[in-house]
Amino acid sequence: MSADVQKRIAGEAAAEFVEAGMVVGLGTGSTAAWFVKALAARKLDIRGVPTSEATANLARELGIPLAALDDVRSIDLTVDGADEVGPGLSLIKGGGAALLREKLVWEASKRCVVIADAAKKVDALGKFPLPIEVVRFGHVHTGHRLADIAAEFDLLPPRLRMADRGIVVTDGGNVIYDLPSGVIAEPAALGAALKTVTGVVDHGLFLDLADEALIGTDQGVVKLVP
Ligand code: A5P
Repeated sequence: MSADVQKRIAGEAAAEFVEAGMVVGLGTGSTAAWFVKALAARKLDIRGVPTSEATANLARELGIPLAALDDVRSIDLTVDGADEVGPGLSLIKGGGAALLREKLVWEASKRCVVIADAAKKVDALGKFPLPIEVVRFGHVHTGHRLADIAAEFDLLPPRLRMADRGIVVTDGGNVIYDLPSGVIAEPAALGAALKTVTGVVDHGLFLDLADEALIGTDQGVVKLVP
């Protein structure tokens, strides 16, 4: 079974969790897109809160009514992908540069379900470079401060994320530094240290946020809890 099929079956399984009347957080990325498509196919009376402009565009195309985060008091259920799913459902997110809006939506949600293909499941976080969202003003200086923190954690310096057309800019107008590692031995301590840097808006460590995971495998969808 290809990774894309695993993503699809995980997204379709998560869409079954949605009930009429819910406010639903709509994640970002290729796996979340399968969820959005499966959700649209159910034609339920729901409102979606998108975590990126890309997801908002997809949901609009598929006819899902949308609400902004500030238009709702809380979100019943958020379904989103991840770049890595580690012990206790600790996650690395932000490979699609949407980590800030994703985390804001997750934190406003009563229940968060992460969906992923089997390759995303890891024994320790860190093989996937950790995305850090940084304000554009003075970002090179912020990058130096991040390098100092990385050294304290025996990690390599972060790299500014580039695309073919130049620096990657997030939906919020910020830039992304990716912290290559190998193994993040102390995710909570690293996350706390990163948040002490003024230019850091947030990072892609999602700790104690996921309530369950649906992993697409060759044997079907496997449910994990923290
Ligand atoms: C978006 O910023 C990310 O957090 C995505 O959820 C993550 O990169 C997973 O993407 P895929 O589902 O495309 O692998």
